[in-house]
Amino acid sequence: MGIRELVGTDEWQTAEGRPYVVYKYAATLDGRIAAADSTSQWITSAQSRAEVHELRAACQATVVGSGTQQADNPHLAVRSMQDDPSLKVAVPLDQQPWRVIVDTNARTQAGARVLDEAAPTIIAVAEDADASHLDDLTTVVRLPRSKAGLDVEALLGELHRRGVRAVFLEGGPTLAASFVSAGLVDRIIAYVAPALLGRGKSALQGGTIETMDDILRCELLDVAQSGPDVRLVARPHR
Ligand SMILES: NC(=O)c1ccc[n+]([C@@H]2O[C@H](COP(=O)([O-])OP(=O)(O)OC[C@H]3O[C@@H](n4cnc5c(N)ncnc54)[C@H](OP(=O)(O)O)[C@@H]3O)[C@@H](O)[C@H]2O)c1
Repeated sequence: MGIRELVGTDEWQTAEGRPYVVYKYAATLDGRIAAADSTSQWITSAQSRAEVHELRAACQATVVGSGTQQADNPHLAVRSMQDDPSLKVAVPLDQQPWRVIVDTNARTQAGARVLDEAAPTIIAVAEDADASHLDDLTTVVRLPRSKAGLDVEALLGELHRRGVRAVFLEGGPTLAASFVSAGLVDRIIAYVAPALLGRGKSALQGGTIETMDDILRCELLDVAQSGPDVRLVARPHR
């Protein structure tokens, strides 16, 4: 599969009124996306991570939750070949996808890496959150609260209005579970490393699936090797 096929470009129009959502994660053989101490860099190989930059570049927004922002302080821009010769993409500033942090209470600090000049950034916060420390630094978007944090449907509506046709959801597992529970994941790309962690978070944390009757079966679209890892592409059955 080529990069455009991987992110389901041909299916984007099927997500009417909202962006198409691609949930990507990196896990171990035992389904862990982080160790017990919350470290997760790097579960998968340099080859898989380089491919992820190409996938990011093929979408218009890279979305993570505030838990990931706090744990990893990720940069989230598409790194270019100038930064790392092993990468295959070169994305100028005006074509970088939005970096989006879903951050109900505006916990992102002014020095966060996503607030640098490498790409545009949206910090999505609650309507009543105090985000005064961010106002001059980036685009702050106000959204209604939901039980789990922010209303993810409202987030997608806001991104769609800004021209985003495909979201690259990079977790973490709590935010991803909210998207899955709301029926808002259109495609899953899992990079599975031949490794075990034993404890730590799995690819989804929380959400509404309680029993086998609720299981979300997926159609397997592709399996490939990515360096030492396996890449699985699947589409949830609706
Ligand atoms: N291996 C991988 O692929 C991968 C990828 C990403 C992260 N990780 C790891 O995952 C861990 C972090 O996971 P996490 O579950 O704590 O963080 P997360 O899913 O990134 O963020 C969860 C937080 O997002 C906010 N949020 C806002 N609206 C939400 C909604 N509707 N539903 C759910 N959450 C919402 C909530 O915090 P507020 O109330 O503060 O807004 C919530 O606690 C770290 O260890 C990180 O390294 C691994």
